[in-house]
Amino acid sequence: MKNIDRSDLTDMDEYIKFGGYSAILKALEMKPSDIIDEVKRSGLRGRGGAGFPTGMKWSFAAADPKKPKYLICNADEGEPGTFKDKPILEKNPHLLIEGMIISGYALQAEYGYIYLRGEYPKAKDILEKAIKQAYNRGYLGDNIHGKEVNFHLYVHQGAGAYICGEETALIESLEGKRGQPKIKPPFPVNEGFLSKPTVVNNVETLANIPYIIEIGAEAYSKIGSPECPGPKLFSVSGNVKNPGVYELPMGTTLREIIYTHCGGIRDDKKLKAVIPGGISTPILTPDKIDCPMDFVNMPKYGSMLGSGAVMVFDETVDLAKICLRAMKFFEHESCGKCTPCREGIGWMRAILERICSGSGMAGDIELLIEVSKNIAGKTFCPLGDGAAVVVQSFINNFRQEFEQHISKEFSKEIKVAA
Ligand code: NAI
Repeated sequence: MKNIDRSDLTDMDEYIKFGGYSAILKALEMKPSDIIDEVKRSGLRGRGGAGFPTGMKWSFAAADPKKPKYLICNADEGEPGTFKDKPILEKNPHLLIEGMIISGYALQAEYGYIYLRGEYPKAKDILEKAIKQAYNRGYLGDNIHGKEVNFHLYVHQGAGAYICGEETALIESLEGKRGQPKIKPPFPVNEGFLSKPTVVNNVETLANIPYIIEIGAEAYSKIGSPECPGPKLFSVSGNVKNPGVYELPMGTTLREIIYTHCGGIRDDKKLKAVIPGGISTPILTPDKIDCPMDFVNMPKYGSMLGSGAVMVFDETVDLAKICLRAMKFFEHESCGKCTPCREGIGWMRAILERICSGSGMAGDIELLIEVSKNIAGKTFCPLGDGAAVVVQSFINNFRQEFEQHISKEFSKEIKVAA
């Protein structure tokens, strides 16, 4: 996000003024395999949520003899709480384009697609304008900068389905089919777009590539956590004084993010809970906020880095209602392909609705856990797992919030009030 608010970087001249498009010139002097090695040595891990090593993913696609190869940028960020890719797409589109050209060259892919979430119409116009500028200046198209390197780039807008952020559903959608996930393996690196080797990388991942080429793998690997280095974007929302997107070294603690960068809890209330990496990552109690936010350390504290979407809840928030809100989202977004997800999430929503409306019954909490266990690990894609994680982690950490709704005293109060 360097210079992102100092200048209009959507204008190619401004981007170049601040050093843009110099990494591509450096990359074009390197062999494709050397770029892949550089990215491997940098330690870059995917920023979409899963943290898969980027260089390793690239090397799998590069080693597959099938041709042509494709590069897809997953710009369908839809995880509740996640809005970290938006500033890149809307304010620094050339950084993503430069990252994609370098990645395309490294993979020997001549076609790239940006699969953009339907809810980001502003970004579509900005990206298309920037792509046109890059074509006009010879950075996109055939024979880039006089070399025998071709790369064509297109924006494809989704229609507002969360599931199309899952890479196999995304590929189906890009092929013009209904966006539903497929079982992996085969992974897209071997059988992706049009059944050809395809690398799907998140916006933020690709935006790191020019920087890695510019400063070199060694310098990059010294930023942030040794196990998973680099800068990381955190989108912080909820009850903090200054919500927003923050670029910080990987491994910055949740405490530092909340209290130093976001100014602490709004109205100086007490912190009740934090979801650290988007709604699908387990909720944490306040005693866990000294966790370093990276892919390696977060599991030790009982959660995951995910997409780095920090959602902060103060003492006044009713977490049972948050859980219900999340379940309505997952029920609405389930693609319906597999039964445990399609049916089970609806059941969990119905039980939570009963609990939150004061009609909860003894045994409802156990029933919720039982249903969640019949979803987790039994679906084609992680959407069902995400819903199960919400129910299980909310109940494990904040059971009393649900019990209060179910308790006789509480139900009586509701009935009297009604
Ligand atoms: P995954 O672990 O299945 O895969 C991660 C990436 O590594 C994929 O590109 C996959 O193809 C590749 N990969 C994994 N193993 C491989 C192998 N053996 N060979 C070749 N390639 C391999 O995770 P997935 O389903 O892609 O992502 C799940 C994560 O997405 C969740 O942890 C969640 O945090 C995040 N998420 C992010 C959202 C957002 O808006 N940014 C939305 C929803 C979920």
